[in-house]
Amino acid sequence: MDTKRKILVTGGAGYIGSHTCIELLESGYDVVVVDNLINSHPESLKRVEKITGRSLNFLKIDIRDRDALKKAFSENNFQAVIHFAGLKAVGESCQQPLNYYDNNVNGTLVLTEVMADAGVRELVFSSSATVYGDPHTVPITEDFPLSATNPYGRSKLMIEEILRDISISDKLSANENPWRIALLRYFNPVGAHPSGLIGEDPNGIPNNLMPYISQVAVGKLQQLSVFGNDYPTPDGTGVRDYIHVVDLAKGHLKALQTLQGEKFSQGGCEAYNLGTGNGYSVLEMVDTFSKVTGKKVEYQIVSRRPGDIAQCFADPGKAQQELQWQTEKTLQDMVSDAWRWQENNPSGFQ
Ligand code: NAD
Ligand code: WQD
Repeated sequence: MDTKRKILVTGGAGYIGSHTCIELLESGYDVVVVDNLINSHPESLKRVEKITGRSLNFLKIDIRDRDALKKAFSENNFQAVIHFAGLKAVGESCQQPLNYYDNNVNGTLVLTEVMADAGVRELVFSSSATVYGDPHTVPITEDFPLSATNPYGRSKLMIEEILRDISISDKLSANENPWRIALLRYFNPVGAHPSGLIGEDPNGIPNNLMPYISQVAVGKLQQLSVFGNDYPTPDGTGVRDYIHVVDLAKGHLKALQTLQGEKFSQGGCEAYNLGTGNGYSVLEMVDTFSKVTGKKVEYQIVSRRPGDIAQCFADPGKAQQELQWQTEKTLQDMVSDAWRWQENNPSGFQ
């Protein structure tokens, strides 16, 4: 194996990272995962190895630990970094803004400084549709105005700006090894690997819709609270662009390939929406879940959740064209895979 095909995956033990490790290993890349396990379990990586029949290298490191990170770079010849590591709970970020800025923004600063010192300037970053704030219209294209309504979202926005700045600085210094950066703006990742061996394993009561519905269906939670039915949407409930986590994971490989190609030969920093382009309401999700799994999902309508927006879905045209990527999984796939994971692992990785 050519060592230039070795990828550092920060946050690789987490939900999206572990699914991406599978795609990387199955495509012949070597993988080193760096994760402090603050929101994940090492069992996820054992299962990645089981699914792929390949091994990966796991380092329990906090990305803010500069010396540990430097050591990882000196011991490995990385082609690129896929950077998932970060905290992601919107409500928690409002209670602990400094923790979120330190973990997400400072963590990325340390990572990029260590990368630059090691001469590794190829980066795929986990951004989020949250950087569009409350979009004035849908579908959303990458050139929409950016804003944030909470510290989590602001941390993503700040990181995007930092990464754009370091890419611009290359042009001023005529850097021969310029930064090549893809900012992947995920919409609403859901579902699980079709093996049923890995999936989303939220701590405590889930904040997000799909894991909440799954836990109602499996009997762990009593009923879903639907946050508002008076939005200006077809049935009054919030509309989102749910994307299967395996499609999302594959987008990262397409981004890596694109960063190696002609478009980025002079360096650059580009944002890409990773969504399906379809919007589904909360009630449509509940209905699809019941139909696909045969489980009744009890729900009640309650008031809107502060900070929520009416609708959010992607125009994925730029990613389709430039990354040669498009989603393949249906909403039924998302639901049946999420359910297989939930049913087989009612307590997650514990
Ligand atoms: P996750 O919490 O399952 O995974 C993140 C991983 O990063 C975890 O394994 C955690 O232990 C690790 N981590 C956190 N801080 C770290 C640090 N300082 N050092 C080392 N490891 C650290 O979350 P996920 O859903 O897989 O999300 C991955 C990335 O995608 C995150 O950056 C998140 O903000 C972003 N994102 C997620 C969603 C979503 O809805 N899941 C949507 C848009 C963007
Ligand atoms: C989806 C819809 C809710 C739970 C969040 C983050 C975003 C991104 C993805 C990381 C909305 C409704 C939900 C429930 C409900 N994460 N809902 N009852 O809010 O679109 O996005 O996760 O970047 O930054 O904000 O996702 O799954 O929480 O909600 O009615 O118990 O389901 O109101 O309409 P959201 P979600």
